[in-house]
Amino acid sequence: MAEVVIVSDKEVESVVDLDRAIGLVEDAFRGLLTGQSRAFPVVREAVPQHAGTFGIKSGHIDHLDALGLKAGGFWLNNGERGLTNHQSAILMFDPATGMPNGLVAANYLTMVRTAALGAIGCKYLARPDSRRLCLIGAGVQGRAQLQAARHVLPQVDDIRIYDPVPGKAASLAAEITAASAASVAAGTGGGGKVAAKGYDDAESAVRGADVVITATPSTKAIAMSDWVGEGTHVNAMGADTKGKQEHDPALVARVKLVVDNLAQCLELGESQHAYRLGLLRPESVHAEIAQVISGQKPGRQSPHETTLFDSTGVAIQDLAVASYAVGAIRASGRARTVTL
Ligand SMILES: NC(=O)c1ccc[n+]([C@@H]2O[C@H](COP(=O)([O-])OP(=O)(O)OC[C@H]3O[C@@H](n4cnc5c(N)ncnc54)[C@H](O)[C@@H]3O)[C@@H](O)[C@H]2O)c1
Repeated sequence: MAEVVIVSDKEVESVVDLDRAIGLVEDAFRGLLTGQSRAFPVVREAVPQHAGTFGIKSGHIDHLDALGLKAGGFWLNNGERGLTNHQSAILMFDPATGMPNGLVAANYLTMVRTAALGAIGCKYLARPDSRRLCLIGAGVQGRAQLQAARHVLPQVDDIRIYDPVPGKAASLAAEITAASAASVAAGTGGGGKVAAKGYDDAESAVRGADVVITATPSTKAIAMSDWVGEGTHVNAMGADTKGKQEHDPALVARVKLVVDNLAQCLELGESQHAYRLGLLRPESVHAEIAQVISGQKPGRQSPHETTLFDSTGVAIQDLAVASYAVGAIRASGRARTVTL
């Protein structure tokens, strides 16, 4: 009989913060190059009756004994029910026997593992002195991506936010500005004052930014190529399904492009559009992020390069964090188990 540890969102949150997630995600990606980590083909299908997208991402990280899958996805109208649009859970198996051994809530986990990969994209590809940051999409991921980018780019002091829902960008901007002022007044948090502003149009928010982060479920380009200046880094986090799109394909075709997983990005990521239009060839993709993390290929090499990181989310991010959370909860002596 299989004994399965059940780990809740709150429990994952109690043991995995952004720093921990960055370390776990970097290690998992390094493992891809040594054959320690593997990501299996993704299932991603529409559930049009409920404006949902259901997906399964699975893989194996040998040195962590982590084998499993994350199932769930994105339900566009969940907000009306007071739920977050992203919903998922991870099922883990013992790689030696195939017996299930863990069920881990994956809403917080997805947020933090995606934030971690966003931070990694900024760390290797953005100019370290970046100050002006543009965020498009002020939802769950947008907030987490903003925090992650500021974590690795401490000189950011000018934040521009665009979201089409009236008031949403302005309200996040006010929250950030107030939190920064409070932390400066209290002498905590380091750094100077941050000014954040909500914008009514994407173009004004993007133009002049050193870093542009997009985290939306958009299905058409929000940002045009000629808005993005030389030396800018773009983290394209939202497109993770066929048909989703945040950027002008001309931008994807002209930048130094790094992807989290080439096959996934050409099919599901921001790169799918430039690829389909014949503007992008697989061999012109500069690197997969694992190669950059491990030093096999360079990240940013000059302040003039315009870079873009296309992230679709890879199963090994989920498994690395889930495996750590299960281990930490077991070690705490408060693990809840069920016998199947
Ligand atoms: N790369 C990854 O690993 C990864 C992980 C998790 C989620 N995602 C994707 O990120 C996207 C956002 O996820 P979330 O959980 O933050 O969703 P969310 O619903 O919490 O937030 C999305 C935000 O985008 C805004 N938005 C929608 N259309 C827009 C447009 N055209 N222009 C600007 N803003 C727009 C919405 O108003 C909302 O504020 C989804 O597509 C999701 O599938 C990717």
